[in-house]
Amino acid sequence: MNDRIIINEVGPRDGLQSQEGSLTLDQRFAFVEAVLDAGIRHVEMGSFVSPKAVPQMAGTGDLARRLGHREGVELSALVPNMKGYELARDAGVETMAVVVSATETMNQKNINLSMDQTMEVARAVIDRGDGDGNRVQAYLAVAFECPFEGPVDPGYVRSLAAQLLEAGATELVIADTIGAANPAQVKALMSALCQEHDSAQLACHFHDTRALGLANVFAAMESGIRRFDASVGGLGGCPFAPGAKGNVATEDVVMMCEQMGCPTGVDMSALLGVVDLVSDMLGRPQGGRAHYWLSRNAA
Ligand code: COA
Ligand code: ZN
Repeated sequence: MNDRIIINEVGPRDGLQSQEGSLTLDQRFAFVEAVLDAGIRHVEMGSFVSPKAVPQMAGTGDLARRLGHREGVELSALVPNMKGYELARDAGVETMAVVVSATETMNQKNINLSMDQTMEVARAVIDRGDGDGNRVQAYLAVAFECPFEGPVDPGYVRSLAAQLLEAGATELVIADTIGAANPAQVKALMSALCQEHDSAQLACHFHDTRALGLANVFAAMESGIRRFDASVGGLGGCPFAPGAKGNVATEDVVMMCEQMGCPTGVDMSALLGVVDLVSDMLGRPQGGRAHYWLSRNAA
């Protein structure tokens, strides 16, 4: 296994949305710029959601306009509905992420819609994106366990994945929103999905709540997955999913992949600089599991 691994940095969205305070637009801009300077080519820069629901993400339109189009870079934004899609498109965003939670209750808590309504919205956004020449990624949230309904049937997740890819989603991201999955479950689900679909269209999103983030990344790599969401410094959590901790840290994923001979294109020293930058901005030290060692040995 020495394939290239794609890192999609989600700190500016998943990471920041659960912080107590909000960063300024200048700080959010500097965060994304620093991530790009470290060599990361895929960044989820924010979300177009109700500012009442997630005040930390207010102003994402201005951020997107300021960032503009970058050659060879995918700057995506999460959109919960058609209104979000249209706001994102009008701000020049070319890659949108729609979220379908794998349980009825999580869809209700997250976007106030039933499962059927959420699928309908996702299909409509995918169609509209297709018509506009934009890319629409579909996220399957709480794909292993839901904080409200418990374990999720993998067969059900596979059927939702098939429906979303058939609807025209450019990528399908399997998300362990609360960090409850174990590597055996990940391997079983992702291996099945890689057999059923083109693995280049699949990605994984893990949270590190139970210290299994990296083990789950490895299990997914063994199943054929080459694209992962991660968050600088392990920033994050989900305000709508009780108990969710931050994403698996970008520096941990980069370290593991590079040590295994899988290039990521990321400059570790610059990446550790981003951890420092975000720690300064938030006024709290951030850092993944390997941060102590990395900051003494890899810079
Ligand atoms: N962006 C900005 N504002 C939006 C919006 C969007 N995508 N969608 C709806 N709104 C606004 C509406 O215009 C309305 O504004 P008003 O009160 O000033 O009239 C208000 O939000 C309520 O709209 P409504 O359609 O009734 O939505 P709701 O109250 O059922 O909330 C969501 C639905 C999706 C807007 C809201 O739950 C949300 O933003 N959730 C975000 C979830 C999230 O970010 N999760 C992150 C992890 S996946
Ligand atoms: Zn997440």
